Amino acid sequence: MVVRRAVDQKREELREKREEALLGGGARRIEGQHRRGKLTARERIAMLLDEGSFEEIDAFVLHRATEFGLENQKFLGDAVVTGYGKVNGRLVFVYSQDFTILGGSLSEAVSQKVCKVMDLAASTGAPILGLIDSGGARIQEGVDSLAGYSSIFHRNVRASGVIPQISVILGPAAGGATYSPALTDFVFMVEGVGQMYITGPDVIRSVTGEDVSHEELGGASSHAAKSGVAHFAFASEQECFAQIARLLSFLPQNNMEEPPRQPPRDDAEFWDEALAELIPDNPNQPYDMLEVIGRVVDDGEFMQVHERFAGNVVVGFARINGRPVGIVANQPFFLAGVLDIDSSVKAARFVRFCDAFDFPLVTFIDVPGFMPGTTQEHSGIIRHGAKLIFAYAEATVPKVSVITRKAYGGAYIVMSSKNLEGDINYAWPTGEIAVMGADGAVNIVYRGELRDSDRPEELRADLIRDYDERLMNPYIAANRGMIDDVIDPAETRRRISHALDMLANKRDAMPFKKHGSIPL
Ligand code: HXC
Repeated sequence: MVVRRAVDQKREELREKREEALLGGGARRIEGQHRRGKLTARERIAMLLDEGSFEEIDAFVLHRATEFGLENQKFLGDAVVTGYGKVNGRLVFVYSQDFTILGGSLSEAVSQKVCKVMDLAASTGAPILGLIDSGGARIQEGVDSLAGYSSIFHRNVRASGVIPQISVILGPAAGGATYSPALTDFVFMVEGVGQMYITGPDVIRSVTGEDVSHEELGGASSHAAKSGVAHFAFASEQECFAQIARLLSFLPQNNMEEPPRQPPRDDAEFWDEALAELIPDNPNQPYDMLEVIGRVVDDGEFMQVHERFAGNVVVGFARINGRPVGIVANQPFFLAGVLDIDSSVKAARFVRFCDAFDFPLVTFIDVPGFMPGTTQEHSGIIRHGAKLIFAYAEATVPKVSVITRKAYGGAYIVMSSKNLEGDINYAWPTGEIAVMGADGAVNIVYRGELRDSDRPEELRADLIRDYDERLMNPYIAANRGMIDDVIDPAETRRRISHALDMLANKRDAMPFKKHGSIPL
């Protein structure tokens, strides 16, 4: 008879427990998850991280609740899988909510597991990724569960600006469950899979009588295009994970590191004649600022953030001569590139992220001003536009800008202007820097003359021509040093690249204070 050694029995017991943990809420619920078109918590981690790199933590944690029959429903690990691993060889921490266990609901134990990896991420200086698929606070645990959310929110805020925080919505995120993602830097969603809302369709129907589907209310499209809650939306979980890896390739591990430079593959000295062809002769004709950006950055690779939200401003990450940069640009193709509430908030938030994580800011400007109208005024364009001024003015990272065409009024000031401490401000010869366009200016300044003239239309045309010739150019600003140089569009890439090299060791800091009071 073979006598099994005690250690072998214990190892067998460990293997069995591990297998039990791997099964989450059981085969039937895993099937249910797949039927919903969703991956399981562990499948997601496997797809997101480098193969074999995941190290799980707290697989044996159990919830402690005894209310409502929960004493008979204990699952190893409870409703979240946590640990660390690598994405493209770089350390990340991850928590992945397991909907097969009590709907991924947040218990006290789940919260403690999440907080543990958040603390490790903060203390080791690595990004934290939260994969959300949860019915929210575990109803049976009451205040313990609510307290658990508070602990997570507190950590989200403490880690903000210290390590990158990314949330991925891969199932329901209802009520308070939305607020941890909302506190993080980037929210990814998958179409038809993730839904976020404070109150669901049933509550809405009973309170307001509105009839709305889960997807219409809180799906990826709604949040990517309308609310701006989601920074990215993709058609499948697989594509979403690939894009998270792409985003991480731009980001530093923490705020003490610089964003990772890559060996440049493109010629940074390249003169691109096609850039000079882009600006139409008619100043009111739009062109695509994405084409300008694509021609200036390495390999034409630009990862847009908030691509479907507030299209009149474009923000995102790219590299110039191998160095990651944050790009902010007005988009004449959309609402003529005017700044409104949504675009101001979108750009301000991005500028602040870049400043926190040491991304030089490269700004392309073609902006006719702030959006006029009662809707914008009454919804607070003054207070929201102020956010963008605040963000640019407090940013101490290198700031390089290029005015390609219009830079009118307050919008000129806001967009990284010299007197907001822009470091290097260029303009193309097509740049027009003025308080406003010629039409509006002539109507205001020469109102009396035009009223008294017996040839008002001819006079107006003459005055507009005169205004255009005298004021609508970049040289007056360049005469005063507010534009550092007027550059040939074809040399934009090399001039920005040289400016970024020169500014690489820029030292600047805000005066000591607890924090500013940004007009939220
Ligand atoms: C405990 C929960 C749960 C919860 C779901 N389950 N939500 N258990 N607490 N919050 C359980 C279900 O009982 C079920 O268990 C399993 O998870 C799957 O749920 P289903 O309802 O069968 O799934 P589905 O039809 O896909 O619907 C998913 C759902 C729905 C939309 C998330 O379950 C739902 O509406 N849940 C409640 C959402 C909610 O109101 N949460 C509280 C939000 S307030 P079995 O055993 O049958 O598999 C909040 C406060 C936080 O979070 C405040 C912080 C500031």
